[in-house]
Amino acid sequence: MTAARGRRSLLPMFTPKHANRSSLTCLMRCGNACDHQPPNKSGNDYFGNILTSALSRRKVLKGTAAAGAAGAGTMLLSACTSDNDDEPGTGEKAGAADGLRFPPIAPSAIDEVVIPDGYEQNVVIRWGDPILADAPEFDAANQTAQAQQGQFGYNCDFLGFFELEAGTQLMMTNHEYTDEYIMFPDYDAQNPTEEQVKIAWAAHGLSVVAVEAQESGGSVTPIVGHELNRRFHTTTEFQLTGPAAGHDLVKTSADPSGEIVLGTLNNCAGGLTPWGTWLTAEENFNQYFANADKVTDKAVKERLERYGVSGEASERQWEKFDDRFDLTKEPNEVNRFGWIVEIDPFDGSSTPKKRTALGRFKHEAATIRVADDGRVVAYLGDDEVFDYFYKYVSNGTVDTSDGAAAKENNDKLLDDGTLYVAKFSGNSPEAEISGDGTLPSDDAFDGTGEWIKLASGDESFVEGMTAEEVYLFTRLAGDKVGATQMDRPEDVEPHPETGHIYLALTNNKDREVAEEPNPRTSNKDGHVLEVIEDDDDPTGESFGWNIFLLCGDPSDASTYFAGADKEKVSPISCPDNLTFDAHGNLWISTDGNTLGAHDGLYGVALEGDYRGEVRQFLSVPVGAETCGPWVANERVFVCVQHPGETDEATFEAPSSHWPDGGDSVPRPSVVGVWRTGDDIEIGMEQTAADVIQELPA
Ligand code: FEO
Ligand code: CA
Ligand code: CA
Ligand code: CA
Repeated sequence: MTAARGRRSLLPMFTPKHANRSSLTCLMRCGNACDHQPPNKSGNDYFGNILTSALSRRKVLKGTAAAGAAGAGTMLLSACTSDNDDEPGTGEKAGAADGLRFPPIAPSAIDEVVIPDGYEQNVVIRWGDPILADAPEFDAANQTAQAQQGQFGYNCDFLGFFELEAGTQLMMTNHEYTDEYIMFPDYDAQNPTEEQVKIAWAAHGLSVVAVEAQESGGSVTPIVGHELNRRFHTTTEFQLTGPAAGHDLVKTSADPSGEIVLGTLNNCAGGLTPWGTWLTAEENFNQYFANADKVTDKAVKERLERYGVSGEASERQWEKFDDRFDLTKEPNEVNRFGWIVEIDPFDGSSTPKKRTALGRFKHEAATIRVADDGRVVAYLGDDEVFDYFYKYVSNGTVDTSDGAAAKENNDKLLDDGTLYVAKFSGNSPEAEISGDGTLPSDDAFDGTGEWIKLASGDESFVEGMTAEEVYLFTRLAGDKVGATQMDRPEDVEPHPETGHIYLALTNNKDREVAEEPNPRTSNKDGHVLEVIEDDDDPTGESFGWNIFLLCGDPSDASTYFAGADKEKVSPISCPDNLTFDAHGNLWISTDGNTLGAHDGLYGVALEGDYRGEVRQFLSVPVGAETCGPWVANERVFVCVQHPGETDEATFEAPSSHWPDGGDSVPRPSVVGVWRTGDDIEIGMEQTAADVIQELPA
């Protein structure tokens, strides 16, 4: 894409035990997963024994969603072009790749969003801000479920933008979970009130908000009451589609069809598709279901355990107010969560669809690459220690034309295809994988891999499981075929130009045996894998891989930054969400920094002299996680998730007052960052395309 210099674009944005997370985070976010035994007891190769893409739908469909990277010229983030080689954290500009020539910030532990010198920021939207026309302003002391249903939800995570019309974007956000302890006055965890529970139902889910870009620089402003603004929450209707829809194990007393589900839960990251829809991933759904301990059926129990569904009363006690959260009353309701959901944000009356062909696990994200023949491939991570990395290949091909027929065609892409799980092999001798990050004698943690077929349509490739069972209990299928146990596969993103796939492996304190793809024991800081499909064919069944980053403090000998000089690297810990900029750089946001500082956003070059030189761009307030990064030419956006989520914090005594300051309660929010100064570069081609691959002609 050629930069349209001088043409002012209005569409510029356009992805200790619990690390350092507080106990509260662990309790509310994932139901204390770390306190339980890892649910994967398959004994699969945990490897020691193997050795061996803001676009409009129209623009997207016309192929102008091009990866934007090439030839994009001098971008916002690259305007600082001095070439001194200063260390990160000194506040100095430094020699860096195009798009990364900002002065890296030092690690921060203050209750603010910290950004580099020469940049400004604002809060785009906060928990409780009105979205729908009739929604009231936020009033922390007088919250109601009805108000929350029209307001921006809690704990924003995934963030994505589509162009709606010139100067206007649709902003899509997930609301992963709620922190009742710091949301509600006088919260009693033993006795939540019905209204508190219903507010939490409404604060979960998803938001679509139209936003208007300012004419020059600056951020974006929500358009309250826009006709396409929507809230999806725990009582919104969703449709189950694909091969497991209508199966007996997804039927409930309220839905004997097994096709209509109320709600989406624990939506973590996701992706935008080249055909103009939004994918959102249901992650730690297990924690909302009560009384697993009372289930006696052995097979049912095994399935529940494999998904971490355990205990008696659930933490939020929703089962007191709706039987579907009680496994003794509605044993199948839990099977209706843990899916990838597809939403058409351009149709304000569309029903979101839970796509069962993509399998059921603790989905982190779903990101799309289109093969040369037009078939679409979705890469999928399962966010749990020792769990697996998957992909889905459609049978149908994407229709790049406009109109109803194309829409109907593309609506089926994620219902009919083949689901695979990854098995990795290292190419270095087992004895050379010491567990402390020391490179093996070939100077790389690398090797090959195999995509193992699990199911295709109605056909199962897993002994002892029907295809429907494979989709419903995908983790068990992965166990049976010998998939490789990974260190928490979170976001996975195919590079829009090279097609290389980047997989964030956040951490795994429980790893005792190092293997080449997960080469550190007690992996507290996580790593990033680079996966390259053989013959550059995403529909194929084999791949190569190497470890791009072993995260941590660069002074720690166990770290590795693609061979870069560690003096030039910012400390980074617990990679979680990924995206790309218009120059093809990778951006990483973190969840659980173990290095004594807060989570942040980092940019790193993937190619050239600066490959591996991680540079910190932003840091978030007390208790917060950095999520949903979206990096465009003129603006960078992040979701600041769970500010103030620390042990001992309460509504009455919060540990963070971000963003409103004073004595206010913390409010999860979307933040925009832009560059200031005379040398501001505006008028570039929009590059939401950065995160979406160009379609084949
Ligand atoms: Fe919700 Fe995998 O982080
Ligand atoms: Ca090797
Ligand atoms: Ca995440
Ligand atoms: Ca995370």
